[in-house]
Amino acid sequence: MRKNNPYTIMFGREPSQMVSRITQRDEIINTFTSDVPSSQIFFITGVRGSGKTVLMSEISARLAAEKKWITVEISPMGDMLAELASKIYHTGGMPKWLKTAGIDLSFFGIGVKIKSAEPVTNIEIALRRILGKLKKEGKRLLITMDEAFSSKEMRIFASAFQIFMREKLPVFLIMTGLYKNIDVLRNDKVLTFLLRTPRINLGSLNIRSMQNYYTETFQLPEEDALEMAHMTKGYPFAFQVLGYHTYEHHGDYQKAVEPTRLYLEEYVYEKLWTELSDKEKKICTAIAGTESGKVLDIRKKLDIETNEFSPYRANLIKKGILDGSNYGHISFTLPFFDDFVRSC
Ligand SMILES: Nc1ncnc2c1ncn2[C@@H]1O[C@H](COP(=O)(O)OP(=O)(O)OP(=O)(O)O)[C@@H](O)[C@H]1O
Ligand SMILES: [Mg+2]
Repeated sequence: MRKNNPYTIMFGREPSQMVSRITQRDEIINTFTSDVPSSQIFFITGVRGSGKTVLMSEISARLAAEKKWITVEISPMGDMLAELASKIYHTGGMPKWLKTAGIDLSFFGIGVKIKSAEPVTNIEIALRRILGKLKKEGKRLLITMDEAFSSKEMRIFASAFQIFMREKLPVFLIMTGLYKNIDVLRNDKVLTFLLRTPRINLGSLNIRSMQNYYTETFQLPEEDALEMAHMTKGYPFAFQVLGYHTYEHHGDYQKAVEPTRLYLEEYVYEKLWTELSDKEKKICTAIAGTESGKVLDIRKKLDIETNEFSPYRANLIKKGILDGSNYGHISFTLPFFDDFVRSC
């Protein structure tokens, strides 16, 4: 019988063939596990499908495997402090532990009334007591939040988090999000401490590692596997989608190209396109229509000067759509994106 396809075309799912982002992963883990952490928060940004959720989950799973760590995931909506307290309470072993510490959360509908203790009625105070107890026990708490964005609730949560940090409580936070959303959050006038928070922007994956996976899975000559890896341009989602379709075509990767292109368009590019401004769309169209990839030629086509063009270029690079590493040139980071833009 044929084995299951080893590639995943679902978002957020930790893939069985994963190209580790060792540098970024270790930067966060080493910072959080050091005796005197230089930061208790990290942002992970990157274009859709760049692997933000996967990286965050990987870090969370690694820390959760250590005795010292408790990890909880909360959503960026609603009453985040209440959700945090509830999630901590429902972590294995915690109800008993909080009971012995005399922390009664029944006021918030969490757990049951503790006879010997007054219920805490302020959620921030409740959390401070929990975190204080964790500190005494030598434990650390990691909170993960996927797809964060600025909101009233976020401001309340972040302000409380800042107080926890000021009180040297052992609480750590990873937030993922699109560059634009995280940028708004970082520039919040009230939450100035977020501006100093380190941000990891996810780029492409290692081509050689992709090649190795393809060689092994499809028993392909190395140069064919390398061609496949180059086709993905190192874009994590494309690595999975091309692998998936190649598997469905019994290793004939040429046949997998068209379904891969269509899949990327339908599941990522169409959404990306709607998130661009009219001007950004125009610029992308000019880039897709300029064979040389030279900034000069693109600007000529658009009939705009450098000072007008540069901010757009910078923004599209930050969003992870453009690659500007080759001086005087720009190109798309995403595979088949130029075809897609030409068809728009
Ligand atoms: N390091 C990796 N190696 C191989 N595949 C990966 C890796 N990271 C992510 N992927 C694959 O890429 C796809 C997208 O990953 P993920 O959902 O983490 O992206 P994301 O950046 O969170 O996207 P979104 O902005 O839409 O939430 C998934 O199919 C996942 O399996
Ligand atoms: Mg995600």
